[in-house]
Amino acid sequence: MARIRAGIINVTGYIGSDLARLLYQHPQVELKSVTGRSAAGQKLGDALPYLNETRLLIEDKLDNDIDVVFSAMPHKSSVDIVPALLKKGIKVIDVSADFRLQNASEYLAWYGFNHPAPQLLGEAIYGLPELHRSEIISADLIANPGCYSTSAILALAPMVKEELISSDIIIDSKSGVSGAGRSLSLVTHYSEANESTCAYSIEGHRHLPEIKQELERLSSGSSLAITFVPHLVPMTRGILSSCYASLKKGWLNESAQEKLQQLYREFYKNAPFIRIMSKPPQTKYAWGNNSCFIYPTVDLRTERFIVISCLDNLVKGGAGQAVQNMNLMFNLSETTGLTALAIYP
Ligand SMILES: NC(=O)c1ccc[n+]([C@@H]2O[C@H](COP(=O)([O-])OP(=O)(O)OC[C@H]3O[C@@H](n4cnc5c(N)ncnc54)[C@H](OP(=O)(O)O)[C@@H]3O)[C@@H](O)[C@H]2O)c1
Repeated sequence: MARIRAGIINVTGYIGSDLARLLYQHPQVELKSVTGRSAAGQKLGDALPYLNETRLLIEDKLDNDIDVVFSAMPHKSSVDIVPALLKKGIKVIDVSADFRLQNASEYLAWYGFNHPAPQLLGEAIYGLPELHRSEIISADLIANPGCYSTSAILALAPMVKEELISSDIIIDSKSGVSGAGRSLSLVTHYSEANESTCAYSIEGHRHLPEIKQELERLSSGSSLAITFVPHLVPMTRGILSSCYASLKKGWLNESAQEKLQQLYREFYKNAPFIRIMSKPPQTKYAWGNNSCFIYPTVDLRTERFIVISCLDNLVKGGAGQAVQNMNLMFNLSETTGLTALAIYP
């Protein structure tokens, strides 16, 4: 089979550079074209020295002779270029938020702009393979999920689908600093972020509408009251989400823990990157790897359900998930090129 000719837009950002790392090692991919505004004209191997064997140049325009493009642009910029790529017959995996929300009016509310291509929101598939595998296979446009969203949705999906928890859900997430991207900002300065932790966007983080959208699809449309509080923690990669909800009556007994394990293992039995744990996971288990570790449990004293999930925000939360989607779109095994293990400690 001919190799898939792939392009990356914005290869110099954190997601773009992790895409380059993964696609370069992918046995069925030829990385054919990469763009990056500030590094245009440089060799890819000069900008990302661990890729020094490639002769690719970073260009300011994409070579259109490709099968699939990964757009790693900031939100609001991606939507300006994606429609033209689709018209040329190129499949698009967009890692920005520009096609994740089904309802166009939510873009004004959450992202502050009127969506210029609302017709594409109906065509875009939310690229979470564990929930939308069959639609991803035939999609031309993938809206790759947000990093926090991936960790929260995967943690809660089995319980919401089985209607075992109340509609009142709390998601408390911690992210490493790379989640804020490579652009400089005061909060991500070493002396501000190191040895410090803070909550932010308590009044409403932009990943909340997609978390709500996807969980409500599973709960047959009934409305969920979700409180999502993200935190910045002093590490480079990783997201850990601790989620809480009240268990519905009648489910709690001595075997609840065992039943939870069975439920999660059954729900994710065809999901090669989901690891159901019998103890709380830590972010290092997923460092550089495409896995999401999930530990469901109950607090017997309060009858509260607790689920902890963790992943690497740049891999399962971004570039790795995008490659997983590409594998499905091109009829490859879902794990192709994504089998590298985490680095520990
Ligand atoms: N970081 C994560 O954990 C994560 C996870 C999932 C999804 N995402 C999404 O993935 C996308 C990329 O995120 P990132 O973290 O990789 O970003 P990033 O590292 O902050 O990349 C930002 C870079 O994008 C370029 N850029 C900014 N505005 C641009 C524009 N209008 N046109 C072209 N290039 C522009 C700039 O590079 P130049 O100076 O070279 O132009 C800038 O340095 C975002 O949409 C983000 O929401 C991020």
